[in-house]
Amino acid sequence: MLSIEVVFSRMHSLYRNLGLQILGGYSNYLVQPTNGAQFNFVADDTFLKSTSGGIANDEATFLYGICRFLQPKKILVIGNSYGVSTLFLSLVNLESDLVALDKFRVNGNAVTRELLKDMHHKTVIEGSTPEDLIAIIDRYLGGAVDFCLIDAVHTDEVQTAEFKILQRYMSAKSVIVFHDVISTDLMKSFNQLRDLDNTFDFKLATKTSSGLGLAIKGDLEPEFESYLAYFTQNLDTVSRFSLAIDTLNLSRYFPAESIKAFKIPPHPQT
Ligand SMILES: C[S@@+](CC[C@H](N)C(=O)[O-])C[C@H]1O[C@@H](n2cnc3c(N)ncnc32)[C@H](O)[C@@H]1O
Repeated sequence: MLSIEVVFSRMHSLYRNLGLQILGGYSNYLVQPTNGAQFNFVADDTFLKSTSGGIANDEATFLYGICRFLQPKKILVIGNSYGVSTLFLSLVNLESDLVALDKFRVNGNAVTRELLKDMHHKTVIEGSTPEDLIAIIDRYLGGAVDFCLIDAVHTDEVQTAEFKILQRYMSAKSVIVFHDVISTDLMKSFNQLRDLDNTFDFKLATKTSSGLGLAIKGDLEPEFESYLAYFTQNLDTVSRFSLAIDTLNLSRYFPAESIKAFKIPPHPQT
């Protein structure tokens, strides 16, 4: 497997060879991360090619670690756009079969094919989720998926429909990554997925930009479990940390022990 620095280096040069570059993911002190600026956007020297942001650099790095542990052979990318995640996962998994689909970004798919043209077993097609998934998995991945990134429609209904299909095709040791679960408020359906299939282990990667959801199948070795635990601290821990950081900031002006927030009234509020 290529090292992560070579993967980022090749991404940069492959896009550059086509007159393109990846914008976004800058320091939060330079560009506020609101409105999705922490995500990666493909651009030429004048235009963003698409308003759909690709996976953020921290998410790519996190997915690199998952691929190192999992060594997926069959990869499905739902939502290709201009290929940020497709190219990243292709470079990380050079020998694997990968298929990526997008319904609307026909030019993005063509750009991605050009980026991938010297790699083997990589396919980018026009296709629609969830209705085309079964045919695509059967035709391009031989009916089994080891790693799937979902980053297309971002509704509770489609997230659930995609999982209902994928649960039948995920291999014995496999991972589904749901992009934007926190950022596009897909928590409701994500939390209900375990009622559909409790053979998967569901985790929320709270230490990632969009709040990635994970559905994991099979037993993982302790180091892989510990790696995931690092990125998936629970929401209670996150909220206690958030309060601690607020207190730390305020304590520059007020003694820490004097800071007592107003309580929030319960619902319904009249
Ligand atoms: C956020 S972008 C994907 C970004 C990409 N994963 C990356 O890292 O660069 C979402 C993409 O999903 C596509 N999309 C939306 N609805 C879709 C559908 N029903 N089927 C397939 N693709 C769809 C959009 O055209 C858009 O390009």
